[in-house]
Amino acid sequence: MDIEFITIGDEPEGFQERMKHHFMEDGRLDTKKGFTFLARRGLNSVYGKSFLISGLVEVSKIKFFIETGTFLAETLMAVSPNFTYNWSVEAQEDCFKNCQVRTQNPIRKNIKLFLGESPETLPIILSELNERPEADKRCMFFLDAHFSGTVDASASDTKTHLSEQHGNCPLTQEIKEIGKHEEKNHLILIDDVRMMGTEGWPTIEETLESIKDINQDYSFKYCTDLDILIAGVFK
Ligand SMILES: C[S@@+](CC[C@H](N)C(=O)[O-])C[C@H]1O[C@@H](n2cnc3c(N)ncnc32)[C@H](O)[C@@H]1O
Repeated sequence: MDIEFITIGDEPEGFQERMKHHFMEDGRLDTKKGFTFLARRGLNSVYGKSFLISGLVEVSKIKFFIETGTFLAETLMAVSPNFTYNWSVEAQEDCFKNCQVRTQNPIRKNIKLFLGESPETLPIILSELNERPEADKRCMFFLDAHFSGTVDASASDTKTHLSEQHGNCPLTQEIKEIGKHEEKNHLILIDDVRMMGTEGWPTIEETLESIKDINQDYSFKYCTDLDILIAGVFK
């Protein structure tokens, strides 16, 4: 299966403008034009992720953000103002409690956090999505739930969640749950692609296959400087 390689580029300020050309007026991505930019080193971490997500939301007009693996809510805090509503699920209780304080009203009014495992929580989030009044139910998923060692270097005994049921990474189960939703045109971003094929992670091929099982029209772009895979129904 083919993946197109993209990067945010040397001139991030021009990124959104350039992205606009890749979307059609109704917000659907237009792949016929493709998009390829030059690499910009160091544009990683939260700034890079939120830059990519903000750029994509502006041109796709997607209103909802669903994140798996809240961790410290860094990405969520940065991107949530771009969306009408945001849901995020975290299985590690300390992280969840910390994030609840960080994201609560009045700091943010459009975030709902869940404590739990993502495959079991996604159906709840998707049923809340169905209750929303907006007709366009497309979401931007940011799939980032996985075991990632200690929460903080100063507290080496506090670990991120390692699931007994789903192992290091629940990605395959998450994609299955997304596939049960009646909207088959969600934009799906997957972080830490370099980990695919390592213990407890599906391979890249398995991941692409499971997304194609949702909708054969999905195609894939890989943002090299952020290590993020973007799956979209690019018309
Ligand atoms: C890499 S961090 C997420 C970073 C965050 N998305 C960000 O960009 O700021 C991964 C998080 O996933 C959580 N996690 C691991 N397995 C999980 C599961 N099965 N369900 C939900 N969260 C999980 C970990 O506890 C950890 O906090």
